[in-house]
Amino acid sequence: MQTPDNPVPSAASPVGPAIDLRCRRLAPRHVHDLVGFLARLAESGDGRLFHPHAFTHQAVEPLAAPGRDDEYHVLTAGRDGPVVAYGMLRGWEEGYTVPSLGIAVDGQWRGQGVGRRLVTHLHVIASARGAATVRLKVYRTNTAAIALYRSFGYECRPFSEEEWLGLVNLAAVPARMAA
Ligand SMILES: CC(C)(COP(=O)(O)OP(=O)(O)OC[C@H]1O[C@@H](n2cnc3c(N)ncnc32)[C@H](O)[C@@H]1OP(=O)(O)O)[C@@H](O)C(=O)NCCC(=O)NCCS
Repeated sequence: MQTPDNPVPSAASPVGPAIDLRCRRLAPRHVHDLVGFLARLAESGDGRLFHPHAFTHQAVEPLAAPGRDDEYHVLTAGRDGPVVAYGMLRGWEEGYTVPSLGIAVDGQWRGQGVGRRLVTHLHVIASARGAATVRLKVYRTNTAAIALYRSFGYECRPFSEEEWLGLVNLAAVPARMAA
């Protein structure tokens, strides 16, 4: 929660299409900024749509530890710029062969292809790790995310009253959507 003693860092505003966006594996140096990103997400109400884990420093720090099997990635503006998006592929640590994808983009950076870029990046990682399929869960009301995932070829089927289960065969992702 934002308090005067625990300010939530603000992300820089988008600076146009020439911005240098970099996808990187989450590392300890990103943790503070990522916690700020997650705090802004929660404040905006989007924590209802994306809640892969607690948004606290305590919960995020271990995700940045080296040697994890699951993949946590950030997209930063420039080499050491702010975190503008966060994504993950999880499930390997629990013994699953089909990883589960999750992403979120900072509110100020949406609608510019950042989400598409991060999904493409995560698909490349999943393929490189030998996954043939990627899965995800998405709220049925989350029209922006559903449109994004469908554009990659995800097929959605009922998971619960509130959520779809999305599955994509990575070999069938349209070539223009591959990195
Ligand atoms: C869903 C989300 C990741 C999209 O990120 P984004 O960077 O805005 O997406 P992009 O700009 O890359 O858009 C890619 C596609 O997504 C779809 N999309 C994005 N925003 C949309 C919107 N507001 N309405 C409908 N479709 C939308 C479109 O299909 C778009 O393709 P197009 O530009 O060719 O039309 C972002 O809105 C977000 O972080 N939401 C909150 C967290 C969340 O819901 N995460 C997903 C949990 S399953």
